[in-house]
Amino acid sequence: MHNTYPKPIIIIHWLTLLLVVIAYLSSGNPTNTGLLGQVHVTCGLSILILFFIRLSLIVIYQKNIPQNEIINQYQNRLFKIVRLMLYLSLCIVPIAGWLALSSLTEHFKIGSVNLPLLSSVRGVNSIGELHQFLGNAFIALVGLHGAAALIHHFIFKDHVLKSMLFKRDK
Ligand code: HEM
Ligand code: HEM
Repeated sequence: MHNTYPKPIIIIHWLTLLLVVIAYLSSGNPTNTGLLGQVHVTCGLSILILFFIRLSLIVIYQKNIPQNEIINQYQNRLFKIVRLMLYLSLCIVPIAGWLALSSLTEHFKIGSVNLPLLSSVRGVNSIGELHQFLGNAFIALVGLHGAAALIHHFIFKDHVLKSMLFKRDK
């Protein structure tokens, strides 16, 4: 029985957290925040790429995913709903961000690369507000998910948090 997630999934999990924190700290209107805007868009797009890699890894390693002890059906359903919402956020928030950027400008360069944008949504201000709302909701969800993991570790004293950490060789 596997009691920790496969290494590549653990790496992507914590790398995604780092990128989400940086994307949140650098958020604002990227067309007038200079380097911070570049950082926001780069981290946001990397999160989207990592999301697809992560999905593929979950399929590849499906037999090695740890089955943590189920406390009750209610808790199990809540875990599955939060996990689904986290997955949806990992792809919808960056896509909404890309659409928001398309609504604000015709050109956006990351370094010397021109980012392809969608001209048909130019001037639709509500997309920016939607992206902002979804981004904030995502952070709240991450807080809930992280708090649940810490409660498992420090209060229930079970293996849930350790299943997402590298095993130390004795
Ligand atoms: C998971 C990744 C992301 C998170 C958590 C996130 C979060 C946020 C948040 C919270 C804001 C509002 C900032 C404020 O005004 O107070 C924002 C603004 C913005 N973000 Fe993102 N973002 C992400 C990815 C992206 C990506 C990939 C792009 C572009 C390709 C992007 C483009 C924008 C734009 C254009 C705005 C300004 C919207 C406006 O003011 O109308 N974001 N983001
Ligand atoms: C951007 C932030 C985060 C995202 C998007 C995220 C997403 C996820 C997802 C989707 C899973 C299910 C496994 C998978 O399919 O990869 C998971 C599992 C897990 N996460 Fe997070 N997570 C984040 C932050 C955190 C934080 C801050 C903590 C701890 C303080 C944490 C602890 C865990 C643990 C312990 C598991 C394993 C749970 C189990 O299998 O029962 N995560 N996370």
